[in-house]
Amino acid sequence: MPSLYEKIEESAHYLSDRIPLVAKTAVVLGTGLGDFVDSISNKIEIAYDDIPYFVVSTVQSHSGKFIFGYKSGVPIIVMAGRLHYYEGYSTAEITFPIRVLKALGVENIIMTNASGGINAHFTEGDIVIVTDHINLMPDNPLRGKNDERLGPRFPDMLHAYDESLIKKFHSIGEKINIKLQYGVYLGLQGPSLETPAEYRMAHILGADLVGMSTIPEVIVAKHSGMKVCVFSIVSNVCFPKSALTETTLEEVIMVVNRSSGKLMEILDHYFEFLKD
Ligand code: HPA
Repeated sequence: MPSLYEKIEESAHYLSDRIPLVAKTAVVLGTGLGDFVDSISNKIEIAYDDIPYFVVSTVQSHSGKFIFGYKSGVPIIVMAGRLHYYEGYSTAEITFPIRVLKALGVENIIMTNASGGINAHFTEGDIVIVTDHINLMPDNPLRGKNDERLGPRFPDMLHAYDESLIKKFHSIGEKINIKLQYGVYLGLQGPSLETPAEYRMAHILGADLVGMSTIPEVIVAKHSGMKVCVFSIVSNVCFPKSALTETTLEEVIMVVNRSSGKLMEILDHYFEFLKD
């Protein structure tokens, strides 16, 4: 049985044999944000199913492929479609692609997701930069034997959300007049949405957002020494209870689509900045 390290190396070699570029920046696209790939030139797409040791996304709203190309002339790798714990995989399995990104030379990862808004000042469609998280998922991707070649046994989480990236995006938001919110993301396993009492619990615990993804990827990115910035689009208001309505995936996608243009503009400016 190959070790995790050997599996990562094999997957990374499979990809680097097929792609002519080295990217320092990767973008992980969450629900409803697939349009981002339209702005990428010289695209090479590789489906997760074709990559050794990858598990495939079972969620219809996530397409499941890597896209290699250039954004404003800057080499980029996009993960179109992420994997979730609720699909039945362990968090170590769903974060394997993040390890492969690191092995390919990625240093900065921008992740996006949709979430429920717990902060009473947030409204549907708000774009929130995640500044911290509360991990209430029942699994940690670093559980088990640690391979020091991949990162330390006890990675510190004080700076899991990179302050220099947050500052950069804050200044982009101000410059192009797009309002950004800031908040703490609480992760639960899903896939059922939360009850009113659970949303209230999230509020009491100090969360501004609640969702079912991203935290395992952030932990692994931090473990492997990458810088992370997470954007979350509030797809449904979850607090106070009087603001709750029934939520469907279609509504989540519709709300995210309405704000995705603004998030794309922010990312466009970031890649223009990287180009210079
Ligand atoms: N809860 C959990 N995850 C979510 C939600 C929610 O209300 N909305 C979008 N993702």
